[in-house]
Amino acid sequence: MANVAVIGAQWGDEGKGKVVDWLASRADVVVRFQGGHNAGHTLVVGDQTYKLSLLPSGLVRGKLGIIGNGVVVDPEALLSEIARVSAQGLAVGPETLRIADNATLILPLHGAIDRAREQARGDSKIGTTGRGIGPAYEDKVARRAIRIADLAEPETLSAKLDELLLHHNTLLAGLGAETFEKQTLLDQLLALAPKILPYAEPVWERLDEIKRAGQRILFEGAQAVMLDVDHGTYPFVTSSNTIAATAAGGSGMGPSAVDFVLGIAKAYSTRVGSGPFPTELFDETGELLGDRGHEFGTVTGRRRRCGWFDAVLVRQAVKVGGIQGLALTKLDVLDGLPELKICTGYQINGETFRRLPASPAAQAAAKPVYEAMEGWSGSTQGARSWADLPAQAIKYVRRIEELTEVPVTLLSTSPDRDDTILVKDPFEG
Ligand code: GDP
Ligand code: IMO
Ligand code: MG
Repeated sequence: MANVAVIGAQWGDEGKGKVVDWLASRADVVVRFQGGHNAGHTLVVGDQTYKLSLLPSGLVRGKLGIIGNGVVVDPEALLSEIARVSAQGLAVGPETLRIADNATLILPLHGAIDRAREQARGDSKIGTTGRGIGPAYEDKVARRAIRIADLAEPETLSAKLDELLLHHNTLLAGLGAETFEKQTLLDQLLALAPKILPYAEPVWERLDEIKRAGQRILFEGAQAVMLDVDHGTYPFVTSSNTIAATAAGGSGMGPSAVDFVLGIAKAYSTRVGSGPFPTELFDETGELLGDRGHEFGTVTGRRRRCGWFDAVLVRQAVKVGGIQGLALTKLDVLDGLPELKICTGYQINGETFRRLPASPAAQAAAKPVYEAMEGWSGSTQGARSWADLPAQAIKYVRRIEELTEVPVTLLSTSPDRDDTILVKDPFEG
């Protein structure tokens, strides 16, 4: 019996939602532990497509979903997502969804600051989702955040809003953006309270019981290691730790909570926001990957930047993220390409590197060193067993395993839930 954490090994959108949905059939509960509604996870089940941002993907399988303390929760966004998926026939209510009472709230002012700051940055913008993720985490660390449990205490809310507005209205005014009025915010929060509080509880206690009962927990990561606030391409990152170690702290469990870490990587690379991307392609191949892979942000709608598979980056993500097995997705997008390239190192100012240095100047200067491989003429699309894969596609997967120093334990060959090849069950540890 093992608990599994699923994390992204590149810059997000690797297909975590699909893999979590697939694995959820083997789990009892699915837990989100970081990030917020900046995440966008697309699940294709037959003729239904579910787009989830804040809700744990296991809900689609009818599994209990838990939003841990490490998540930043926008209550309005949560309620509208619940309404949206309920309209698609999913049962989401306090019986199927529990939210940590000590999770931080995202308020409308966080989104306003996020967007105003991005605008002020001009060309050096991070390309955030504009959903207030960064400012909400800043408030948490600054010890002035409003948390779920505060919704039950009007006096606490009132006092906290005074402190928050003193800080944020000054900043908003300085940025030339509209400021917020305390009474309006207080009324909004008091109106939301009876809709949110039925979901709230100390989830650490429930998770402890679940663990002691020997039930299986699946931790669903959002974003990815290269967007981790410490280990990613800082400052072009998100504002949380996305590595598997966060699964424990972000849900109220000890470090032994996770038995197996499954990293998800695309068979090529994509990135939504700004920042370094050594293997980015600006030619027709990049266009082709984008078109075939339908590379448009689930949250932003923006076209994702596309490039070759970067084994240096994924190897680094494997090491710092504690990844024990890799799920390789979107292999089908490479079908029919005559030649494929894999990045095996970087040239930076005349020196060769097998890691991405921390220096932003070095990251921006990194030129990929490529190894070329012959493509395959057959199709991998929809394959459900190794035997269905062209020999050259298997060779590509094997080379990725060698270079990233981790076995590929799962393969995904289409957006559909069932088009998946299991090599090793992560729940077996
Ligand atoms: P996440 O953020 O990691 O959950 O990934 P997203 O859902 O944002 O983006 C991944 C996209 O790729 C979604 O549209 C999925 O439906 C799709 N997808 C996932 N796996 C595969 C695959 O193996 N092949 C193809 N063609 N598409 C896939
Ligand atoms: P999933 O879970 C891809 C990116 C944004 C921006 C940076 C910071 O679907 O993989 P933020 O709004 O978090 O402050 O933005 O991080 N970003 C993502 N990119 N997938 C995501 O989530 C992302 N969540 C944030 O584009 O570059
Ligand atoms: Mg996504």
